[in-house]
Amino acid sequence: MWLLTALLLWVPAGAQTDPAKAVITLQPPWVNVFQEENVNLWCEGPHLPGNTSTQWFLNGTAIQTLTPRHRIAAASVNDNGEYRCQTGFSVPSDPVQLEVHRDWLLLQVSSRVITEGEPLTLRCHGWNNKLVYNVLFYQNGKVLKYFIQNSEFTILKTNLSHNGIYHCSGMGKQRFESAGVPITVKELFPAPVLKASLSSPILEGQLVNLSCETKLLLERPGLRLYFSFYMGSKTLLSRNTSSEYQILTAEREDSGLYWCEATTEDGNVIKRSPELELQVLGLQIQTPVWFHVLFYLAVGMLFLVDTIFHVIIYKELPRKKKWNLEISLDSGHEKRVNSYPSKERYLEEP
Ligand SMILES: *[C@@H]1O[C@H](CO)[C@@H](O)[C@H](O)[C@H]1NC(C)=O
Ligand SMILES: *[C@@H]1O[C@H](CO)[C@@H](O)[C@H](O)[C@H]1NC(C)=O
Ligand SMILES: *[C@@H]1O[C@H](CO)[C@@H](O)[C@H](O)[C@H]1NC(C)=O
Ligand SMILES: *[C@@H]1O[C@H](CO)[C@@H](O)[C@H](O)[C@H]1NC(C)=O
Ligand SMILES: *[C@@H]1O[C@H](CO)[C@@H](O)[C@H](O)[C@H]1NC(C)=O
Repeated sequence: MWLLTALLLWVPAGAQTDPAKAVITLQPPWVNVFQEENVNLWCEGPHLPGNTSTQWFLNGTAIQTLTPRHRIAAASVNDNGEYRCQTGFSVPSDPVQLEVHRDWLLLQVSSRVITEGEPLTLRCHGWNNKLVYNVLFYQNGKVLKYFIQNSEFTILKTNLSHNGIYHCSGMGKQRFESAGVPITVKELFPAPVLKASLSSPILEGQLVNLSCETKLLLERPGLRLYFSFYMGSKTLLSRNTSSEYQILTAEREDSGLYWCEATTEDGNVIKRSPELELQVLGLQIQTPVWFHVLFYLAVGMLFLVDTIFHVIIYKELPRKKKWNLEISLDSGHEKRVNSYPSKERYLEEP
């Protein structure tokens, strides 16, 4: 179990840290132990050719050990402190704070400060390996887990909700309660926010850039984030190193709820953005084009018909007036019998 735990702890640490930085691994994996217990600290890091020695430091002071393993047999309060190691070709490791306790019950933890996505292992440990049963693990005073017998458990992928003070209780000859151990989970990057280059509503045919915005809060050489873009349940772009996605020519079918996801390469930390609603409108001109054409055509036709009528009326009017005159002549105006009535004449007539 310890070996498995050690492996679990080793992989993310090795994968996400600077390869030139030495790494300390504990065996058994606990950073807090009882007096008289054994602890092995292992140092891994690149060596110089011909020099395999490892330098160990306790509270910043070099100690005697020059091997990759620093063995603490029967721990005492003198072994309390901050351990670091360094190999010939590495920078000093991150510190490991080892605490040596004297108590009935000890909540052992694999690490006190972790980065989200990394595992955390807890163990409720009785003094002198005494059997403890009806074990309860608590986080911030609330029961987290129950075991009939002395046990340990691992949170494989921690997140910010795992921050807090942990303790355990269990039955021996009587009910014992451990001291609290504060655990800090550091945020690697905040949940992304999806942003669009244009604000909704968007007109059909426009180019829209979507960007999935977040930023790494911790320095991790070689750490890259991968981005996925979704519309509803549809995947638009999956696990790309680019935090941008382009809708080249927006169409009305592109309307919907968009969201994105940022993740580490190993997928241990996955965070999704809130949804962003995009609405794509059909172009104002598109439907009315034929409508406008028809409208102007109809107006034009009306005008044409109107003009034709006018022309006809103007041509017809004088002839009609001639008829009127002829009719009036017939009705017995002797005077004008021989004079053919012209338009002008007619107008002068009363
Ligand atoms: C190392 O420092 C801690 C306090 O940070 C102290 O309790 C401990 O005794 C020191 N260890 C040694 C060996 O000096
Ligand atoms: C080997 O490397 C260590 C650092 O890890 C250094 O302290 C030591 O002086 C080196 N020894 C030789 C012989 O170069
Ligand atoms: C954190 O992890 C727990 C499982 O260990 C899960 O139930 C919870 O939803 C996670 N919280 C967030 C914010 O991802
Ligand atoms: C969209 O992104 C491309 C390439 O990233 C860029 O050339 C273009 O100017 C962007 N357009 C808008 C409207 O932001
Ligand atoms: C990321 O997306 C771009 C264009 O969207 C594509 O050319 C590239 O191959 C993608 N990369 C991966 C790793 O999928």
